[in-house]
Amino acid sequence: MSAVYKLEGVKHNYDGRTVIDIGHLEILEGEIFGIIGPSGAGKSTLLRLLNFLEPPRQGVIRYRGTAYSAGNMPSLDVMREITTVLQKPALLSTTVFNNVVYPLRIRHKRPDPQKVALMLQRVGLTKLGHVRASSLSGGEAQRVALARALIFNPRVLLLDEPTANLDPANIAVIERLVREFREETKMTVIVVTHNVFQARRLCDRVMLLHEGACVEVNDARRFFESPKHALSRAFLSGEVIF
Ligand SMILES: Nc1ncnc2c1ncn2[C@@H]1O[C@H](COP(=O)(O)OP(=O)(O)OP(=O)(O)O)[C@@H](O)[C@H]1O
Ligand SMILES: [Mg+2]
Repeated sequence: MSAVYKLEGVKHNYDGRTVIDIGHLEILEGEIFGIIGPSGAGKSTLLRLLNFLEPPRQGVIRYRGTAYSAGNMPSLDVMREITTVLQKPALLSTTVFNNVVYPLRIRHKRPDPQKVALMLQRVGLTKLGHVRASSLSGGEAQRVALARALIFNPRVLLLDEPTANLDPANIAVIERLVREFREETKMTVIVVTHNVFQARRLCDRVMLLHEGACVEVNDARRFFESPKHALSRAFLSGEVIF
């Protein structure tokens, strides 16, 4: 598998404080890559850098072979291959249907009604297409956010704690959809999760991020069964590490 991202000497800071410091990291095309780590480790910041929402202060992020850096950020077309779903979905104050087709509209693509109907069906929202998004439950809103992210076949789907605060049924639906779409479209998925069981269920490889640095990257099975690093063992055993 080739690398969709290659990070080389990437550093990012806020107010003079280093929050990301990654010497080298590759994320492979088509994999589900998990990022775990304590609060404040820099997980959300790393996702923002990978979505090119902020330029890294230092270093290079190669995306599909092209090097991007502070002075050379990707075009809108490239950025639109990548999308993020946050823990709290920011839905537009309109109907579920309009939310789901929004990414197509901004890409000047005419929504195919059959494709949209199939998407709503797959996320279990067929009956709610004309309901206002603001009236949805947390789980329904997150499924709208996922449908809105998947409707344009992103190459890279970034998930920042996508199922925090959801009930087990909604968690299962979201995990199943992510796996199914990855199989169908070969998109790359990078998921930040506080739930180590979710990382184990969902991910091909997992990274522990600590103080902005990559402590350990490994195949999910190896990471959870025989973590190499003492910090990984401490994190997995539920010890608070800062
Ligand atoms: N826009 C910002 N301005 C200043 N500091 C920031 C900003 N965003 C993040 N930080 C700081 O950077 C560090 C990393 O934050 P980040 O949100 O990436 O952590 P995280 O690993 O996602 O944590 P959590 O698990 O709590 O979501 C934190 O110390 C945070 O206070
Ligand atoms: Mg975060």
